[in-house]
Amino acid sequence: MKFFLDTANVEEIRRINELGLVDGVTTNPTLISKEGRPFKEVIQEIAGFIDGPVNAEVVGLKSEDMVKEGRELASWGSNVIVKVPMTEEGLKAVHTLAQENIKTNVTLVFTIAQGLMAAKAGASFISPFIGRLDDIGKDGLELVSKLKQVMSMYGYDTEIIAASIRHLPHLEGIALSGADIATIPGSIFPKLWSHPLTDKGIEGFLKDWENYEKNQEEV
Ligand code: E4P
Repeated sequence: MKFFLDTANVEEIRRINELGLVDGVTTNPTLISKEGRPFKEVIQEIAGFIDGPVNAEVVGLKSEDMVKEGRELASWGSNVIVKVPMTEEGLKAVHTLAQENIKTNVTLVFTIAQGLMAAKAGASFISPFIGRLDDIGKDGLELVSKLKQVMSMYGYDTEIIAASIRHLPHLEGIALSGADIATIPGSIFPKLWSHPLTDKGIEGFLKDWENYEKNQEEV
């Protein structure tokens, strides 16, 4: 299973990357806007030190505009993936870009049918949004499991990026679903390696060690 970081914050990416946990990065227009820096500068900086796909999203709505933007984004680095929204125009753009060997990630996927269409059009990645489905009372994790089933059944090599992750149970559910990739916000990542009983355990061991050392000095 691969882990992507769902952020455009370079410091956050560098910090977690030092743990050897980051296989790629996803950004979107909202995440880029939070950084207040030029889009190209941010993507190129991340693509320069991350050894894996770095996703940058188009903002055009017409396929011609998406293709134009996609070619430009792909020229920013050999590991830059073009994120395209799941629309009819988006599918057309994905198809054109695939013929030019430009990899795409179809984003904002909410149904099995949308995932299938994206894979068929030639997307290298599809991004089902779990949290946003949960928000409207649907089961986001179920969609990821079903998409995995369908991709395997028909032999698509499109990878599933489980996105819109809100908490630890999401991540554990994704791991069990067999999704290829989970893209995790920087704020959620530390929850993956933390547990209150771990902290309590360390505290107890250190206390006992201090007493042991004191006793040794007295002997
Ligand atoms: C994924 O590629 C998206 O950037 C992201 O997961 C969206 O998550 P949100 O629903 O928390 O905005």
